Amino acid sequence: MAFQGTKLKVAVLVSGRGTNLQSLIDRAANDEDWPVELSLVFSNKADAKGLERAEQAGIPTQVLSHKDYDDRAAFDAEVSNILEEANIDLVVLAGYMRILSEEFVNRWRDRLINIHPALLPAFKGLHVHERALDAGVRITGATVHFVRLGTDEGPIIIQGALPVQPNDTPESLEARTLKIEHMILPEAVTLIAEKRVRVVSEQVQIDNRPDEAEAVIISPVLSH
Ligand code: GRF
Repeated sequence: MAFQGTKLKVAVLVSGRGTNLQSLIDRAANDEDWPVELSLVFSNKADAKGLERAEQAGIPTQVLSHKDYDDRAAFDAEVSNILEEANIDLVVLAGYMRILSEEFVNRWRDRLINIHPALLPAFKGLHVHERALDAGVRITGATVHFVRLGTDEGPIIIQGALPVQPNDTPESLEARTLKIEHMILPEAVTLIAEKRVRVVSEQVQIDNRPDEAEAVIISPVLSH
């Protein structure tokens, strides 16, 4: 029997290729009972590949160029209005390459999540894989977290880890990390849609969490 309740209305904000958006589209396509409706894909770039993915999946899209606005606050206020008009419950930043205004972050507090290709709080910011290799870490991964004012800061919802291989390059590490991202992002959105995620004293608590099952994802490379 098809899903009967009210689905969580999710907007995904993208600036580029949109493979994380695709992981959500695929999840929705493969599970009609998924308690999530992908209601809107927004981009600040008209040529973002993510917009094509959304159109192919029949998801409404909107584009605004920040170049048409006087400042960050004015642009973000318009984005907020678009999201509110669409009755969005949760905003997912999936490769959205904009620093957000304080007003935007506050307005969407605990309804705004980001995916980052490292085990936060390590390696915030850009050029993550190169920096992880330079630091010689043995394990890296990806993080989905609620957004706070500092870049890549905020309560951590879920992380997935993978081992760094001796011959890894930034490109190979990025490719394997992306596979982890595509697992944990739909998982985090599911947990929120199931209303199992609470932020208490700036830490995430997950209700009915069975034996760490959601907490650790082991990379497929470990099984070879
Ligand atoms: C991902 O690595 C994500 O973690 C980071 O930006 C990249 C976006 O990739 N925030 P895609 O557009 O989802 O393919």
